[in-house]
Amino acid sequence: MACGSNQHARRLFDGIAREYDLVPDLLSFFQYRLWRRYLVSRLDVGPDDQVLDLCTGTAGVARQVAARYQSRVVGVDLSTAMLKRAQHNIARHGQKNRVSLAAGRAESLPFADDTFDGVCVTFLFRYVDDTESTLQEIIRVLKPGGRLVLLEFGVPHFWWARLPWYAYTRGFLPLAGGAISRGWWRVGAFLGPSISRLYQSQPESKFLDLWGKLGLPDATLKHLSLGGAVVMWGTKEG
Ligand SMILES: C[S@@+](CC[C@H](N)C(=O)[O-])C[C@H]1O[C@@H](n2cnc3c(N)ncnc32)[C@H](O)[C@@H]1O
Repeated sequence: MACGSNQHARRLFDGIAREYDLVPDLLSFFQYRLWRRYLVSRLDVGPDDQVLDLCTGTAGVARQVAARYQSRVVGVDLSTAMLKRAQHNIARHGQKNRVSLAAGRAESLPFADDTFDGVCVTFLFRYVDDTESTLQEIIRVLKPGGRLVLLEFGVPHFWWARLPWYAYTRGFLPLAGGAISRGWWRVGAFLGPSISRLYQSQPESKFLDLWGKLGLPDATLKHLSLGGAVVMWGTKEG
C-alpha cells in the first residue's frame, strides 16, 4: 500500500516530468550526466541480461544501460507522468525492443525473487520511510552473483566545499527552480534539506554496513563532484 512518502514523491515528480530531461543537467552544471554515466559503468551485465532500472524517471539510465550493454531493461517508477515521458523517449530513440516500463514501488516490487542480472537505483532513499526493508526488497529481486548499483546525492566532506554546497542547495536551487516553474521550486526547496536528513540518518559507513548485512559483502562507494554525489555498488552473494 502506498505510504505518505510515496504520495509526496509522486506529487513532486508528476509536477516536473515535462522538463526533466533538461533541467537537472542545467541546474547541476552538467554534473548530472557524468554521475549517471559513472553509475552505468559500474554495472556488470551482458547482452540479453535482464536489468531493473528502479526510479527510472524518464528512462535516461534505462536507455543508457540498453545501449551500452545490449541488455533488456525494465524501468520501474511510481510517477505516471515520468513514465509517460519515459515511454515517449524510448519510442523516439527506437529502443522499444530493449526497454520496457512498469508502474511500481520500490517498497513492494512486482517481480519474483532472483529475477534480474543487475539492478540500478537512482535517488530513491530520500523518498522511503524504511531504508532497510526497501533495500532488502531490492536485493530480493537480484539474482545471486548479480550487481546492484546506486546513485544518491551526498554532502561534501571538506568544509571548504561544504560552504558553497550549502549556499547552492539552500539558496541557488530554490531560486533557480522558482524561475522555471512552481513544480521546480518545490523540488529545489526540498532537495537540500532532504539530502542533509538522509546523510545524517544514514551515514555512508552505516549504509555500507547495511549492504553487507543484507548480502552484498563487497559493497564499495565512490564520491563524485567532491562528494556532491555518491555511487555505490556491490554483488549479491550466493
Ligand atoms: C530523481 S528521479 C531519477 C530519475 C532517473 N533515474 C534519472 O536518473 O534521471 C527519482 C525518481 O524516483 C521515483 N520514485 C521516488 N520514490 C519511489 C519509490 N518508492 N518507488 C519507485 N519510484 C520512486 C520518482 O517518481 C522519480 O521519477
